[in-house]
Amino acid sequence: PGARRLAGRHVLVTAGPTHEPIDPVRYIANRSSGRQGFAIATAAAAEGARVTLVHGPVAIAPPRGVKAVSVETAREMLAAAEAALPADIAVFAAAVADWRPVAEAAGKIKKDGSGSVPALALAENPDILAAIAHRAEGRPGLVVGFAAETDDLLAHAGAKLARKGADVIVANDVSPGTGIMGGAENEVVLVTTGGTERWPRLGKDEVARRLVHWMADHLPEPRP
Ligand code: C5P
Repeated sequence: PGARRLAGRHVLVTAGPTHEPIDPVRYIANRSSGRQGFAIATAAAAEGARVTLVHGPVAIAPPRGVKAVSVETAREMLAAAEAALPADIAVFAAAVADWRPVAEAAGKIKKDGSGSVPALALAENPDILAAIAHRAEGRPGLVVGFAAETDDLLAHAGAKLARKGADVIVANDVSPGTGIMGGAENEVVLVTTGGTERWPRLGKDEVARRLVHWMADHLPEPRP
């Protein structure tokens, strides 16, 4: 075994879905399990990093030896991620809800018996990756984003790299037939300004280990 490649480094990871409340008993969510992000946190800690794992509601236990911060909404996730800075590396593996109900109803929304359907007005959530990658001060040295797509994977990933200001986008195809969203395996393409790197289909733990090595290879030296 070689040296622990992330010793002395702080790695921030976001993981899991967010829940956006509609009323006290209902929310908007998605099928993210948090597995890929939790595996990255585990792999980074195994390489000696101090790890802060900011995660939404998930059914899996946080890895040992990492600081887990549990949140519910996108806005809470942004606040927790910003509070965790500075970080040498930030990995945004969370499946953040793009939209939230404009306001959470104070009481449970009731059927009125007339067959009328409530309208759900939505507001856009903050983009956590873009907010942190575009920081003038305290930007992590290496910013890793994900792109889960069902169509035009590479085109969307390349656009995200530029728009969000990430250093690399880990793109994966989450079309229903792949079993990737919520599953144990992942098949990714790394997209940087320098080109693309396609990895074979691997367990999410193995993708995480390889990604942590990739990050150690591409990490700028800490600023003096
Ligand atoms: O735009 P899209 O959701 O596909 O972008 C995915 C990437 O952006 C992921 O790295 C995800 O964690 C991050 N993201 C975020 N905050 C959002 C939306 C996406 O950090 N509100």
